[in-house]
Amino acid sequence: MVRERSDTVHRRRVRWLEAGPERSSDVLVWLHAFPLSAEMWRPQLEEPPPHWRVIAPDLAGFGGTDDHAEAPSIDDFAADLEALLSMLTIPRAVVGGLSMGGYAAFAMMRRHPGRVRALILADTRSGADSPEARANRARMLSLVREKGAGGVADEMLPKLVGPTTHRTRPEVAWLVRRLIEAQPPDGIARAIERLRDRPDTTAGLPAIAVPTLVMVGAEDAITPPAEARALAEGIAGTAHVIIPLAGHLSSLENPVAFATAVREWLPGV
Ligand code: MLT
Repeated sequence: MVRERSDTVHRRRVRWLEAGPERSSDVLVWLHAFPLSAEMWRPQLEEPPPHWRVIAPDLAGFGGTDDHAEAPSIDDFAADLEALLSMLTIPRAVVGGLSMGGYAAFAMMRRHPGRVRALILADTRSGADSPEARANRARMLSLVREKGAGGVADEMLPKLVGPTTHRTRPEVAWLVRRLIEAQPPDGIARAIERLRDRPDTTAGLPAIAVPTLVMVGAEDAITPPAEARALAEGIAGTAHVIIPLAGHLSSLENPVAFATAVREWLPGV
């Protein structure tokens, strides 16, 4: 059973989804991709790993979580997760993030490393935006201002999910569209700035000493398998799993393979 929760944290409304035993000290946090919400983790929440408490927050500006009042920074996501873990009296958690959620997990490693028991980095990268990527962010900012979340969905959907999903499970692409269209344009715009201005964390990879699992959809066109390999090679002792028949949103496109990889790896953390 998935539980929907919300509370006021530092005077902002924060919403999250939860599953698994509330008293468990084994906690797994899932941080969502851009421009989605915690809803993308439902398949992983519906069957949590045995004995694990699973928590998926809406990141600032998405779903039911208010955005910050100040200029946006990727570190806001880490500050929010720190505050949520404090409120729930969870000392340490396995922090898993997909794409933008991975950037947020890196922010957590930079800002609050003591809170991170282990890391799951799915369909993400450690590098900062290239000049082309930054130019693309500017285009996306105009798009969201002119056409709202629907315009962003039209632009991103072809690449967000892989060709196999488009061909054989079009309902997944529809779900992703619905999730994107439910997001407030302001939240999307501020997230674009957070993504554009995030720092390069590549130099910090060798210092990551917690168990790490790197996963990537075999058909990921946004953070391709070569990118995941480089990430896995940068962190000592990393487990590296390629999710077949999945694109960038590997946890939604092949939830069984994704969950299996996590379950097999978790006992070692
Ligand atoms: C995501 O899926 O979160 C985005 O593709 C991340 C990005 O645009 O860098």
